[in-house]
Amino acid sequence: MIKQAIIPLAGLGTRLLPLTSVIPKELLPINGKPGIEYIIEECIDSGIKELIFIISKKKEMIRKFYNNDKFYKLIIKKKNDKRLITEYKKIKKYKKMIKFVYQNKPLGTGHAILKCKKYIKDSHFLVLLPDDLIINKNCTKEMIALYKKTKSNVIASKKVKKSEVSRWGIFKLNKLNNNNFVIKDVIEKPSVQKSPSNYAVIGRYLLSKKIFNVLPEISKGKSGEYHITDAIKQMINDDENFIGHIFKGKYLDCGTMQGYTDSTQEISKLW
Ligand code: G1P
Repeated sequence: MIKQAIIPLAGLGTRLLPLTSVIPKELLPINGKPGIEYIIEECIDSGIKELIFIISKKKEMIRKFYNNDKFYKLIIKKKNDKRLITEYKKIKKYKKMIKFVYQNKPLGTGHAILKCKKYIKDSHFLVLLPDDLIINKNCTKEMIALYKKTKSNVIASKKVKKSEVSRWGIFKLNKLNNNNFVIKDVIEKPSVQKSPSNYAVIGRYLLSKKIFNVLPEISKGKSGEYHITDAIKQMINDDENFIGHIFKGKYLDCGTMQGYTDSTQEISKLW
């Protein structure tokens, strides 16, 4: 029922410099595999069949990573390395699922998602932000189950420290019910004083296609970018139902250097 996931990958990754000066942050290894692979696995495990990767010319390396057949065939011919054969099979499987879309100007998640309008086939689809890793329990699966029950849009959420609200999109909500809540409003990176709660938006969105009618109408927000948050805010005003879901898994913020280094340690504990 939910078969497509959009993954915005055109961001510059400045919070992880100098590592990202030549390597896209999504290819940086976390416990021996590229960070993006955790996101791909979460999607496959939830029944997603197509991944729409939004990249930019500066991040061609991501495309190359999945389109390097000649190189692998040559090496595998020379050395019959079992591990490499398994890895190559995995890359080929992922490659079949990925469609590449370009966003060459860093104009934000709202702008990136709008670029995918013509590729979305069903009434609802997913967006996963690759900086946000959620391990131990599949958050996307939980969200799809909730969508099946409620037919609402669903966004992942997590309680954050009051002092840190300005790093996140923040929800206005009434009350929690079994780790779910009705979203009344959402504000992109509010000040501590103006924050309506300390429940943050985490980068998993299950959205109605209706968002494509709203995205062209939103104005540029913080840092001169078009934020998905502002389109969602508009949809809520237009009476679309949105549910916030506090996921069960453990959250790792791989968009910051501290989070990135912690993530390797946390994930290595799982094996
Ligand atoms: C983005 C969203 C923000 C959300 C966050 C989750 O911000 O704009 O609403 O809370 O992802 O990671 P960014 O991390 O790109 O600054």
